Amino acid sequence: MAEIRVFAVDTEICAGHGRCYALAPESFEPDDSGYAEPTGRDESGRPQTEIDQIIGTCPEEAISVASA
Ligand code: F3S
Repeated sequence: MAEIRVFAVDTEICAGHGRCYALAPESFEPDDSGYAEPTGRDESGRPQTEIDQIIGTCPEEAISVASA
């Protein structure tokens, strides 16, 4: 069974760079101002390397992930 993860975006830090929803549009979407909103639980079973890539794509380090 794939591990379920939950992405989070620190709204105090997000500056709207948009790299997260460009890289993983199934996990993030922009709000009306271009700031990221996680879409919910990630049950895709992505390998850890992809999770790390998604977290690392944000230059503000606003993205975190937890296991659900
Ligand atoms: Fe915000 Fe970082 Fe995405 S600044 S829009 S969480 S790439």
